[in-house]
Amino acid sequence: MPLANPPFSVLSDEFAAAPHHFYARLREQAPVHYEPAIDSYFLSRHQDVKRVLTDHGAFTTEMLQVRAEPVMRGRVLAQMTGAEHTAKRKIVVRGFTGSALQDQMRAIHTNAAELMAPFLPRGRVDLVNDFGKPFAVHVALDVLGLDRADWQQVADWHAGVAEFVTSLTLTPERRRHCLDCAERLEAHLAPVIRQRRSRPGEDLISKLCTAEFDGVTMSDRDVTALIINVLVAAAEPADKTIALLFKHLIDHPGQMAQVCRDPDLLAAAIAETLRFTPPVQLIPRQTQESAVFAGTTVPAGATVFCMIGAANRDPAAFADPDAFDIHRADLGTARSFTAAAQHLAFGTGLHQCVGAAFARAEIETVAALLLPLLDGVRYSPGFRYRETGLYTRGPVSLSLDFTPVHPSGTRRG
Ligand code: HEM
Repeated sequence: MPLANPPFSVLSDEFAAAPHHFYARLREQAPVHYEPAIDSYFLSRHQDVKRVLTDHGAFTTEMLQVRAEPVMRGRVLAQMTGAEHTAKRKIVVRGFTGSALQDQMRAIHTNAAELMAPFLPRGRVDLVNDFGKPFAVHVALDVLGLDRADWQQVADWHAGVAEFVTSLTLTPERRRHCLDCAERLEAHLAPVIRQRRSRPGEDLISKLCTAEFDGVTMSDRDVTALIINVLVAAAEPADKTIALLFKHLIDHPGQMAQVCRDPDLLAAAIAETLRFTPPVQLIPRQTQESAVFAGTTVPAGATVFCMIGAANRDPAAFADPDAFDIHRADLGTARSFTAAAQHLAFGTGLHQCVGAAFARAEIETVAALLLPLLDGVRYSPGFRYRETGLYTRGPVSLSLDFTPVHPSGTRRG
């Protein structure tokens, strides 16, 4: 069916229900799709998306001043370039690499085991709402060195901040709600920043508070913005990736059996999950000058959305792109979590995800723990799978049944 009949919109219910049904037609018939309601262009071809994300002079992140800054309470990494970006990115990276990473993975393992424990005797868990969401926020709080006791409160504020950043349209009421969440989160962080400045520890907030940049330390505003930046960036895609990984493996029992037999295949399964169903579906940029894509001119100053889901299924980049295949020759598992990745789930270029290696370790640790625990894992009877989100996208819930585990460790299948 051609896209023009009836007129296609990425804001339609049909697209929201199953974006992947439209990717091929978009790439072939409307690789530069204009959406008048939000005055924005949507690019779906791998080569165009890659060009936008790597040509930082021609395609800037200026629109984050209005799309992110109001709720981040200051400038985030993606808005920075040059020496400032390099220095601050390095400081952020220090929070979850090297020896910090080893300790964090131990904490992640313990945390995941504790969260799953109450569900094991029942033999049923909603992997999104019972496990993934609290887990992803706990991990982000641990990295930052924030108290997990407040996680539910922080999760609610985080949801408001994430809604602001990831909404294509926002009513004035929702906008007010999101800004209110951001103000409360900022107020919650203020005493923590004061305390870390006077008594720094090993956590990321302390590193941000004590770091020097060109002989100047970061202001409270700078630190607040980077904390919220990491909180949203780390928590938002992680629970979605964990749930999507399990969904794809359940849908492909042969590949599930292989991964269970050989956990070394987990990295490939995670990389293929990120290619096939990237949790971050859209990355926005602004054109500095007018630019031509596939014969269509996009004017200067326009907002351009890179469609990561469509680019990751472009046959020009991946053979048989609509198949989930952890053994695909063009996946390149090792480079899938680096700047050389062929898939674009972590973005690419200057602003490529700073947490990609951490995300791999985090999801590998969790999946290696869960797979043997969830023996015979399958969808719960009557469960209906549904995904939501245009900007970030993932399952609404994932109700799974498995062989119950008695508290003594024995199975009651
Ligand atoms: C599967 C999990 C993840 C996915 C799919 C993902 C995806 C992304 C994407 C697409 C971007 C690029 C945005 C742009 O170009 O504007 C990004 C940036 C970023 N991510 Fe991730 N991310 C993940 C996990 C994490 C984790 C665990 C952390 C931190 C611990 C993190 C921290 C960041 C930060 C700080 C940035 C901004 C980098 C910059 O602008 O220089 N991410 N991420």
